[in-house]
Parts: sequence; C-alpha cells; structure tokens
Amino acid sequence: MQITITTLPGDGIGPEVTAHAVRVLETSADMFGHQLRVTEKNVGGAALLASNDPLPRDTLDACLSSGAVLLGAVGGLAFDKYPAKLRPEAGLLRLRKELGVFANLRPAVCLPGMESLSPLRPEIVRGTDVMIVRELLGGVYFGARFTEGETGSRRAADSMAYSEPEIERIAHVAFKVARGRRKQLLSVDKANVLDSSRLWREVVTRVGNNYPDVKLSHAYVDSTAMSLVSRPASFDVIFTENMFGDILSDQAGAVVGSLGLLPSASVGGKVGLYEPIHGSAPDIAGQGIANPLGTILSAAMMLRHSFQLEDEAASIENAVKQVLAAGHRTRDLVEKGAASVSTQQMGDVVLQQLRTSAVRL
Ligand code: IPM
Ligand code: MG
Repeated sequence: MQITITTLPGDGIGPEVTAHAVRVLETSADMFGHQLRVTEKNVGGAALLASNDPLPRDTLDACLSSGAVLLGAVGGLAFDKYPAKLRPEAGLLRLRKELGVFANLRPAVCLPGMESLSPLRPEIVRGTDVMIVRELLGGVYFGARFTEGETGSRRAADSMAYSEPEIERIAHVAFKVARGRRKQLLSVDKANVLDSSRLWREVVTRVGNNYPDVKLSHAYVDSTAMSLVSRPASFDVIFTENMFGDILSDQAGAVVGSLGLLPSASVGGKVGLYEPIHGSAPDIAGQGIANPLGTILSAAMMLRHSFQLEDEAASIENAVKQVLAAGHRTRDLVEKGAASVSTQQMGDVVLQQLRTSAVRL
C-alpha cells in the first residue's frame, strides 16, 4: 500500500524526534512491503522565521493532500512576545481546525517495570492504563474572546461554548473507544457551575443510550484531577472538553512518569494528525538527548488510525516495549545524573528490535 504522509518537525526537539520516527516508519514500510512517501514542511516557529506565518499555505496544502500528518512540536521562548495570531501555537490550532480533527486520543500507560518513573508510589500507579478522549475543536480554545480598555483597567474574556452537535460527535467517538477497551467511560465536566457543562452532561447521557454495553459515569473536573493522582489505575476512558482535556492529559502524563513516552492521535476529520504530547522542550533542544519514543509511538498510532495497519502499528509498539524492558533509557527516564542513552542510540535500538521481531513474523 501507498503511505503518503506530511511531516512537520517544527520547533525545539521536534526535528530530532521526528527524524527517528520517520526512520522507524521507513523500516516498517520496508518490512511489510508498503511504499512510504514523506514530504517535510515547516510549521510553528520554524515557519514564522521562514515566512512570517506559523502555518503557511503550502504546509496546509501538503497536509490536506496527504494520508496523515506527523508533527514534532511547536513553540519556544523566542516567540512569547509575538502577537497572538503569530504565535507557533496559533499555527497548531489552525492546523487542527483546518484538518477538522475534533477528537484527540491521548493514552497514558504505566508499562510493567516502569513504576519507578512515576512520582507516585509504585503500588498506586501500577497497572495504570487510561485513554483520554479530548474534544479538540471547541470550547474556550475557539470561543469568542476579547481584551478591552486602557492599560491598568483592561478586561479580557474567553468564552467556553459547545453546541449539541459538537458534543454528540465527540461523544460517539468516546463511546466507541470505550467499547474497544474495558467499557468504562467517565465523562468529565463542571456541571455544578458551567452551562456548557450541563449541556455536555445531558447530551452525553442521551448519546449513551446507543451504547448500553458501555458503563457511563460522570464526574467534575476538580474531583477527577484528585482521583487521577490518588487512584490512577481505576480509570479506563476519560472523556472531556478541550481545556479540561489539555490539563488532565498533562497530569496523566506526569502520573505515569514521562511525558516523553506519550503519543497522541487527533482524528475525526479529513486527515489525521499525530504528535507526541511533550512539546518543544527548548531547554534540551539540539543536545541529542530528547526521548524519541513519544513520536515513534505517535507514528504507530498513525498507521493504526489513518491507514488501518494494525499489525504494523502493534509491531512498533512491541519494539518500544521490548527496548524499555531491556533497560534502555533516555535522560528523562532516569534519576538525575544516572547513565542514559542519546536520542540516536534510542532510535537505533528501536530499529534493531523492530527488525529482529520481523524475523519472527
Ligand atoms: C497540547 C498543547 C497545545 C494545546 C498548545 C501547544 C496549543 O498544550 O497539545 O496539549 O493546548 O492544545
Ligand atoms: Mg497541553
């Protein structure tokens, strides 16, 4: 099969980690007899510097005409003083919107033997395997906003708005995801305070009638934040609006120990978008020590969700698990000062492992 993708390495550690994910995709394509076509384009700060636009037209066109998009990361301190529309993050938000990817899937798993990465006690984090389904194109990220008045007495506001169809479409995705897992769906809101949350709860409950096999429950976002650290292993699928999902997914990442390991998939639109959740990490950019596994696992999600290549995806995920089980660790996965491998070495062992497992296919 022909696998046509656009890569957007972006800023900070984005280019370093994306390069290794592309190598893994090349090897996988080779092993399974697929043809991989990769077009690389600028996004975020890199695009701002090159063409004064965080999402240039030619980048968007390339994305829209490919089968999937793999993104490294966007953002950096140098861009903090740019006006809102010209920030790297604005490019990412526009990309999500243009691709129509309203459903963001963020798994956070504590692999056996990796409990010590978590700041929590091993017996609390052990067995954690949660999937966060985050609504990605609505709510306060895209609602009406303004800043008005004179310096010293200015007012600013952002509004969190959701329509019934917007809630319905993401609810269907969440129920289906839960159906493919342990069938426990927790819808998270702030219905004790917010109108948008009361509507959310009502619509989700209604959609739930179509999925009698999935056990739906509801919780407030504050109490969920608490439960996520006190009993993370009790969750299966957490499903929530855009900003709550942004916050809870970082928290879930910290709970299982390394943001560097976590992939994400944004789906539901014309073209899927896949990115690690760790961000651009400007403090370690260019040093060759970033963890490429989050991006490699995002590439696996891409093969699964955009190309329906389940075996190919699973073989990459297995290679990553094996490499971690064998004790290979980038710097983010070890105690401060302990020995670790470079980005390049980690990429190499994953490729080796992938090829070795291919022999057994
Ligand atoms: C994320 C990030 C983005 C978001 C930023 C970079 C705009 O935090 O993907 O979680 O808030 O969605
Ligand atoms: Mg975030």
